[in-house]
Amino acid sequence: MASYDLVIIGTGPGGYVCAIRAAQLGMKVAVVEKESTFGGTCLNIGCIPSKALLQASERFEEVTHMLPKMGIGVGKPKLDLATMMKFKSDGVDGNVKGVSFLFKKNKIEPYQGTGRIAGPGKVEVKGADGKTQTLETKNIVIATGSDVTRLKGVDIDEKRIVSSTGALTLEKVPEKMLVIGAGVIGLELGSVWRRLGAQVTVVEFLDRIIPGMDGEVAKSFQRILEKQGVTFKLGAKVTGVDTSGKKLKAQVEPAAGGKAETIEADVVLVAIGRVPYTDGLGLKEAGVELDPRGRVKTDGHFATNVKGIYAIGDVIAGPMLAHKAEDEGVAIAEILAGQAGHTNYDVIPSVIYTFPEVSSVGKTEEELKQAGVVYNVGKFPFTANARTKVNQTTDGFVKILADAKTDRVLGVHIIGAEAGEMIHEAAVAMEFGGAAEDIARTCHAHPTRSEAVKEAALAVAKRSIHM
Ligand code: FAD
Ligand code: NAI
Repeated sequence: MASYDLVIIGTGPGGYVCAIRAAQLGMKVAVVEKESTFGGTCLNIGCIPSKALLQASERFEEVTHMLPKMGIGVGKPKLDLATMMKFKSDGVDGNVKGVSFLFKKNKIEPYQGTGRIAGPGKVEVKGADGKTQTLETKNIVIATGSDVTRLKGVDIDEKRIVSSTGALTLEKVPEKMLVIGAGVIGLELGSVWRRLGAQVTVVEFLDRIIPGMDGEVAKSFQRILEKQGVTFKLGAKVTGVDTSGKKLKAQVEPAAGGKAETIEADVVLVAIGRVPYTDGLGLKEAGVELDPRGRVKTDGHFATNVKGIYAIGDVIAGPMLAHKAEDEGVAIAEILAGQAGHTNYDVIPSVIYTFPEVSSVGKTEEELKQAGVVYNVGKFPFTANARTKVNQTTDGFVKILADAKTDRVLGVHIIGAEAGEMIHEAAVAMEFGGAAEDIARTCHAHPTRSEAVKEAALAVAKRSIHM
């Protein structure tokens, strides 16, 4: 029987990063993956393919809306969706192969098949041919990720009624797309198909979009998306979709119940969240406890209630983000090596890769108010930033929330082009316990969009220069 220091079930960003860090620290490591490629949701059907389509569709739209302003006339863009999809698949392929390369480089042994915990220190791997083998190990890390949340009355066939997975592989641009859920997936993939020509309507249960993000940013984001042509139906729910005709007919009701209306669509995208994936893992038999939301319960240091079994990533509590899973992968590998592995949940950036982008790190104003924290706000609009003015991408602003007594940065929220790249200086400042004044006194290159971060930091002390 093959024997290891660590067997990791799942090779998403949590699992593969954990494997590499553990191998660096001298452990003998195996990974088990049920799909034919490594990289999990993120690389195969999540972050990477969605960003490829966002990138390509943004360029497509730029040809009509931006390039003529710059004196570049290339006429009406022609969509070759099959080639765009190949661009996406090539990007996925490159990333997935990168993980295989890193496994080889770090002498990590991969097993293709479904992993099941067969007892303390034992993982059974069932291959596609039905054959099983058992691996012996000192420690097990569960990194099995998450799956799509289903909606009663709306059966996903991945052709006309799709989850994010089907929305990444549509064969033609739908005339009308109905998106259920104004969260990250709905707005990113809704943006892709709107840019390529679909009329997009988003039905959201709550009375706001992107719950969890700063409320002021969400309002501004909604206005910008509406200007781009997205229609929102907030405080509403889809109760069923009639698939019998050529067009889909969705029944939409007010969230609190009431008169229903019918919305026709060619494609319905269900994007109402994701649920932890623990199917077939043998957790019940192994005695591993789940929390009330079906996530593997851990002690805050990734240990489950069963000795030698740990869990990370989407399958445990916390934001379902690739970089959160990666950080946890590193932390548990270091803990198993006797080091002080740690994930700082107060400083996990999050980005929505639309145009403009939305990024945030730390607390929102709503969270600070609820916690009774007294804070100062520094805000700077991109309309006053030299680089965005010259590039004519002035939508949005930077907002910094700092403790009123200590000036410590508690949260930073950005809406604007390239906001996803700009958030990291705030994350570094927060990781070092920095104050708004620290950012304000740091020299920023001119002309850059990042100067808006410095100006927002200056605005915390009401001394912004360019406003
Ligand atoms: P996963 O990536 O889900 O990997 C789990 C792996 O475990 C899978 O490969 C699965 O096949 C395997 N597995 C499960 N059970 C078994 C078993 N019993 N045996 C063997 N293998 C098993 N996050 C971001 O940070 N940025 C983004 O831009 C972003 N975009 C996204 C876009 C979409 C459309 C989606 C759906 C998600 C996106 N996410 C994004 C979220 C991100 O993909 C997840 O947070 C991340 O993949 C979680 O990593 P993980 O390692 O926990 O699990
Ligand atoms: P989400 O949690 O971001 O948004 C789901 C939305 O659906 C919420 O606004 C919710 O109120 C709404 N909703 C729930 N039930 C509903 C119903 N019955 N009818 C109408 N609306 C309903 O989930 P989403 O967009 O599916 O994404 C899943 C996860 O994937 C997220 O947690 C996110 O962290 C991750 N992700 C991250 C990305 C990024 O970092 N850029 C990109 C895509 C996904």
